[in-house]
Amino acid sequence: MSMFISSLFLVLLALLSSCHAQKEATIQEIRLAFNKNRVNSRQLVEFYLGEIKKLNPVLKGVLEVNPDALYEADRADRERAAKVPRSMVGLHGIPVLLKDTIATKDKLNTTAGSFALLGSIVPRDAGIVSRLRQAGAVILGKASLSEWSSFRSLSAPSGFSPRAGQGKNPYVLSATPCGSSSGPAISVASNMVAVSIGTETDGSILCPASFNSVVGIKPTVGLTSRAGVIPISPSLDTVGPICRTVSDAAYVLDTIVGFDYNDGEATKKASRYIPLGGYTQFLKPDGLKGKRIGVIRNPFFAFSNGSNLPQVFENHLQTLRREGAILIDNLEIAGLDTILNVTASGEAVATIAEFKIAINAYLKSLVTSRVRSLVDIIAFNKKFGDLEMIDEFGQEIFLAAEATNGIGDLEKAAIANMATLTRDGYLKMMVENGLDAVVTPGSNISPALAIGGFPAISVPAAYDGEGVPVGICFSGLKWSEPTLIEISYGFEQATKVRKIPTFIP
Ligand SMILES: *[C@@H]1O[C@H](CO)[C@@H](O)[C@H](O)[C@H]1NC(C)=O
Ligand SMILES: *[C@@H]1O[C@H](CO)[C@@H](O)[C@H](O)[C@H]1NC(C)=O
Ligand SMILES: *[C@@H]1O[C@H](CO)[C@@H](O)[C@H](O)[C@H]1NC(C)=O
Repeated sequence: MSMFISSLFLVLLALLSSCHAQKEATIQEIRLAFNKNRVNSRQLVEFYLGEIKKLNPVLKGVLEVNPDALYEADRADRERAAKVPRSMVGLHGIPVLLKDTIATKDKLNTTAGSFALLGSIVPRDAGIVSRLRQAGAVILGKASLSEWSSFRSLSAPSGFSPRAGQGKNPYVLSATPCGSSSGPAISVASNMVAVSIGTETDGSILCPASFNSVVGIKPTVGLTSRAGVIPISPSLDTVGPICRTVSDAAYVLDTIVGFDYNDGEATKKASRYIPLGGYTQFLKPDGLKGKRIGVIRNPFFAFSNGSNLPQVFENHLQTLRREGAILIDNLEIAGLDTILNVTASGEAVATIAEFKIAINAYLKSLVTSRVRSLVDIIAFNKKFGDLEMIDEFGQEIFLAAEATNGIGDLEKAAIANMATLTRDGYLKMMVENGLDAVVTPGSNISPALAIGGFPAISVPAAYDGEGVPVGICFSGLKWSEPTLIEISYGFEQATKVRKIPTFIP
């Protein structure tokens, strides 16, 4: 076994040293290369398909490749040759990978990693996919994930799905890639695609971004449409970019935000907060200047003894100060113990009830499907569990969700409790200290952001003693994406921590 792993390591190292130029290419660099006719969209797609062929058998970040990707690339190249206006900007001709919860009405399946949905037909593209197509992006394929976005069983490993198998962390193959948007993070980290899109209910973008040394934006709930996305909880779910740089993530965000009739209530309100001229205008080298950033040490700065991380993060705080930020240190979020405990906060009670309603509605909306309700999925898992090696991890969250009966008194109390915790906790701390953002290592702050619907950006920040990446998380109040992009970009440009994957066995 270990011989197998070490020879694998050598193979991967050899692969790593080839084709350095296209690796790590940013959207801005690709756009420039397009304009100078140094590369076209077809060549780019061919490059990434080659990387997928080489790396994906080990990393398992990609679940399906779009059989029409080259066709879409050729169309983009023709449009660019004809100088069609949309071909000069944004994601036109750029390959994008989507978490397997995001519906596409094409040859790709949309399954949340489960065999139960294989072969089902969705009614239409997800709202954000329509926007990607309008922009002329190339849908390269579907990314792996933790099955059902980690909402089937607490004991299911992060990054595992029956359809894709176990996704691997490209830095340290034995380390977790974290989930549930594991595949998008693994795939952009290892240069199997230019940019990717994941989803988050509580931590599912921020955690894999942190563990795979990439940038993840968890947008304010409602900023991006959730229509056509296999749901967990409509009041917490959000769709966002996972990319190698803050700049790439801002380009993707620009493309996917906005009103969608099929997620009308949430996206209508949000569309008022989308800045004229989009998000890339906030990619300012001096973005940290004058920003008031709260530091919450307890409990987020606790690292294991002997770790290099305390020093690394102290240096990062120094860098933030040096770049002109005003740090307000040692702040506390009131009620944080309760907020971080999903049982105590009400998050678990509310989300399982919402999940049952939302997943049943999603399944009913499908044109054809072998499962039409949560009951059907549970029965499918029981029947085919052994055959498809999925029963091993149980499905107790599904069973608990099925036992709920709509939004009753218990759920209303849970929702009210989350609102109170947010008002007296995160919101109060932000307002009382006049903060633009909060900084914390990793992604452990995610429950506070989940229950408030708040946005955050994870940026590569460190590698621990074993070489496992750790991100830094900048979070803020609703609609603060412009400020968070300024801060994240400022930090990224001042530190440039990200390095290409090491494939340590
Ligand atoms: C979608 O699933 C079907 C099986 O139902 C399979 O034949 C097909 O190849 C899958 N599509 C892609 C693009 O992998
Ligand atoms: C870590 O160090 C602290 C103080 O130096 C000590 O009290 C604690 O027991 C140590 N923990 C471990 C797990 O070694
Ligand atoms: C979380 O809260 C529940 C219920 O309020 C409690 O029973 C449990 O012990 C708490 N868990 C932790 C780790 O504190």
